[in-house]
Amino acid sequence: MIWLNIFLIAHLSGLALMAGTTVAETVVFHTFSKSFQKDGAPALNLLGLMDKLSALLGIGAALLIISGTGMMFITHGAFAHQIWFKIKLGLILTLVLNGFLVGGRQSSKLKRRLEVNEQLTDVISNIKLFFLAQMILFFTIILLSIFKFN
Ligand code: HEM
Repeated sequence: MIWLNIFLIAHLSGLALMAGTTVAETVVFHTFSKSFQKDGAPALNLLGLMDKLSALLGIGAALLIISGTGMMFITHGAFAHQIWFKIKLGLILTLVLNGFLVGGRQSSKLKRRLEVNEQLTDVISNIKLFFLAQMILFFTIILLSIFKFN
């Protein structure tokens, strides 16, 4: 029981770190977008800040996965066959793939376009949509994990 509680503390700390960082990155990116619209020049320090925040996101993700796997181990996979858990894992996979395939690619595209001074309008709206999708995914995962619909 004590180990389950320890893993749960780590799990919720990972959740706070990962979801909190996503919200912080969203706010920073919206600030970047507004200042770009206003001044016509990119605030590169804000993009640098987002890169730093990504490291925290990684720590949160690692904590979530390690503690989640630990809880599965301790409960002998009791949740593995439940519908909420299967949907949760699918959403986690979507969250990760969206992070790498959409978020990662769009932010590289943004940096490339900045180097050659190309227009950024479509990339900026794609990144805003990406963050919105991540937050909806987080919210749904939390809802599923708490209510454990079965
Ligand atoms: C974005 C990723 C994740 C989020 C946001 C998340 C969130 C949560 C939340 C809010 C709870 C409820 C805690 C409570 O009962 O008070 C929970 C429980 C749980 N999570 Fe996760 N989780 C994530 C990833 C994972 C992963 C990767 C696994 C397993 C590989 C996992 C396994 C579990 C298990 C087994 C429980 C139930 C613990 C229990 O009630 O005894 N989670 N999660």
